[in-house]
Amino acid sequence: MSAVEVWWARLDDSRPALADDLDAVERERLNAYARDEDKARFLLGVAIVRRVLGVHLLLPPAAVQLDRTCPDCGRPHGKVHADGMQVSVSHSGDLIGVAFHPSTPVGLDVELVDPKLDPDALATITLADSEAAHLTRYAETDRARAFTQYWTRKEALVKATGDGIRADFRKIVVTPPDQPAAVLDWPAHTGPVQLADLAVDAKHVASLAALTSAALTVHSIDAAPLLTR
Ligand SMILES: CC(C)(COP(=O)(O)OP(=O)(O)OC[C@H]1O[C@@H](n2cnc3c(N)ncnc32)[C@H](O)[C@@H]1OP(=O)(O)O)[C@@H](O)C(=O)NCCC(=O)NCCS
Repeated sequence: MSAVEVWWARLDDSRPALADDLDAVERERLNAYARDEDKARFLLGVAIVRRVLGVHLLLPPAAVQLDRTCPDCGRPHGKVHADGMQVSVSHSGDLIGVAFHPSTPVGLDVELVDPKLDPDALATITLADSEAAHLTRYAETDRARAFTQYWTRKEALVKATGDGIRADFRKIVVTPPDQPAAVLDWPAHTGPVQLADLAVDAKHVASLAALTSAALTVHSIDAAPLLTR
């Protein structure tokens, strides 16, 4: 398969003019966020989607047609669907990423590692027994990061299928965080899948899934120049 492009922005890349390209639904969602940081993360995700697809389709960003219909409730907060491109958006902390592939469904998840989270408690509801047992081998100072890597691997998988958090994370078994990312057991999914961790920065972890049997090649691209135009 051709490479998956993952475009990355940081909160600092946000600027009000990016909102000019939003459609009415996106504007409504933008205005509904109470915190400036949440507004900026959403705005940057939309701007990357629209600008990258605009280049691909030879259209102005505002003219790109997107479908965000949630299969559960019909509201426009679901996975982004666009003609001729598979897309996955993720944002957390300082980072906003969008993965693109012309034909293969992709799932991207980035998370800020929160040193205050309780990995042992979260493990009981999100990790398989074998994963939770492996997590206890990490020193307490490393455990939040290890848990978060388990989480991004699983969330990348369910974002690729579009199931999102409806999926039972305890029934998806992935390799331990100190080993290369791979799926060990996922009874609910019978098709091909590839999984990889993406190097981002010291504060965040990120994973990418693609529903293919072909080897995964990832191009990480700085979105900042695209966002200043
Ligand atoms: C998608 C989901 C996994 C997001 O996790 P998160 O860590 O909070 O957020 P991320 O930043 O990683 O991802 C958000 C992006 O995922 C995308 N997304 C939403 N639903 C998705 C789904 N079912 N599958 C894949 N991607 C989805 C959107 O593009 C969203 O970006 P946006 O804010 O620009 O619209 C989670 O919210 C989910 O499963 N949602 C669907 C189920 C749900 O919420 N149902 C209740 C409402 S009916």
